[in-house]
Amino acid sequence: MTITFEGRPIRVPQGTSVAAALLAGGVREFRSSIVGAVARAPYCMMGVCFECLVEIDGIPARQSCLVPVRDGMRIRRQNGAPELEDFNTGDDHEE
Ligand code: FES
Repeated sequence: MTITFEGRPIRVPQGTSVAAALLAGGVREFRSSIVGAVARAPYCMMGVCFECLVEIDGIPARQSCLVPVRDGMRIRRQNGAPELEDFNTGDDHEE
């Protein structure tokens, strides 16, 4: 299957996590820190450290080590802290 990172297509095997797929695809900077804008990348690969945050299909701050790849996923670098409105998934509805 194929995912994209910052618009660059990456071929990945089915059943891997987004973090593993990006690392295998040569990605070394997943996000930048909130303080100092320092480049960060996955560390624990098991959902503990939150160093692997990326934007997946428009949703910010996803833990890429916990998300399985899906064909066509659009992944972007997480730069600093997301804005609160960035978390709107479009699922909200008024009753
Ligand atoms: S690599 Fe630590 S939470 Fe994902």
